[in-house]
Parts: sequence; structure tokens; C-alpha cells
Amino acid sequence: MKKTVVRVVCAIGQAGQLGLKGGLPWEGDRSPEFVADVARFFDVTRGHVLLAGPKTIASVPDFARADRELVVVRSSMDPEHTLRRFAGRVVFIGGGPPVWEAYARFVSHWDVTRLPYDGPADRWFDARWLTGGVRTRVARNRTLRSNGP
Ligand SMILES: NC(=O)c1ccc[n+]([C@@H]2O[C@H](COP(=O)([O-])OP(=O)(O)OC[C@H]3O[C@@H](n4cnc5c(N)ncnc54)[C@H](OP(=O)(O)O)[C@@H]3O)[C@@H](O)[C@H]2O)c1
Repeated sequence: MKKTVVRVVCAIGQAGQLGLKGGLPWEGDRSPEFVADVARFFDVTRGHVLLAGPKTIASVPDFARADRELVVVRSSMDPEHTLRRFAGRVVFIGGGPPVWEAYARFVSHWDVTRLPYDGPADRWFDARWLTGGVRTRVARNRTLRSNGP
């Protein structure tokens, strides 16, 4: 059976800022780095599946809705079962933080741009996602400890 390829493309500020008041912390900044980052996000995800929480999907602009498949995920949905629906396809996990935490263990490629933003945020990147998320680390540490000397 074909696999689902699970990837992330996201942007963070200098200290890991991800979101502010429901939008990107640097929303409205028209500097070239920020404009290029948004353009690149839509280039990379074009033709693929973008799977994200309800607020993140709601923030996708109309122009980007036609050329990618948008899927809203909820906390009641099992991540493994949800990903199986997209066998043979590339699925981008679009956030926000609780969604990255739940899907981190399936991600084979993280593409993180660190932008020149150093202001406030209410959503933050968690480097533990890069190694599968908090839940995976706790489970793995338990196994390593029980297999240890
Ligand atoms: N910088 C970036 O690249 C980037 C990317 C994406 C988002 N953001 C920012 O992040 C913020 C939005 O994120 P958000 O977290 O507030 O809202 P969100 O996008 O709606 O995502 C969080 C919600 O997803 C649902 N969910 C789905 N599957 C889940 C699971 N397995 N476990 C837990 N929850 C799950 C939960 O809602 P239910 O419990 O109601 O189902 C949860 O509250 C905005 O500020 C946005 O701009 C930034």
C-alpha cells in the first residue's frame, strides 16, 4: 500500500514566534522576506493536501483555496487514521501548535523559515516537535529506561 508523505512548512520569528491574535505575528509587514515566505508557502503546498486546525484553515486566503486540498482536523480525529485517507499523497501539516504536537511523530521533513521578527506572540514553535513531539518523547524515554542497565 502507498504511504502518506507527511511534511511541514512553517515560519517562525527569531525566538520561535508562530502566531498572534489568530494571525501571523508579522501580519501586514510587506518587507521582501515576509512576502517571499508567504509566496513560497503557497508554491510548496500547491497541488497537495493542507491539513490543519479550524483557525488555521479559516485563515487561508480565497486565492489559495482552489489549487490545494484543504482539510480541517479536529481533536476528536485519530491522526493515524486521518493520514491513511491520503495514501500516495503529500500531506502538509499546517498547525496550529496542538495539531503539530499530535502529528509530529509522522513528519518526515520539517521546513522552517526563521524570519527577522522579534516581537510578541501567543503561539510558539516547540523544538520537541522535530523529534516526534512531547508524547512520543515521554513514551520513548520510558522504553529506553526500561531497556537500560
Ligand atoms: N507561523 C506559521 O507558520 C503558522 C502556521 C499555522 C498557524 N499559525 C498561527 O497559529 C494560530 C492558529 O493556531 P491555533 O492552535 O490557535 O488554532 P487551530 O489552527 O484551530 O489549531 C488548533 C486546534 O486544532 C484542533 N485539533 C485538530 N486535531 C487535533 C489533535 N489531534 N489534537 C489537538 N487538537 C487538535 C483543536 O480544535 P478542536 O479541539 O476544536 O477540534 C485545536 O484547538 C494563528 O495565530 C496562526 O496565524 C502560524
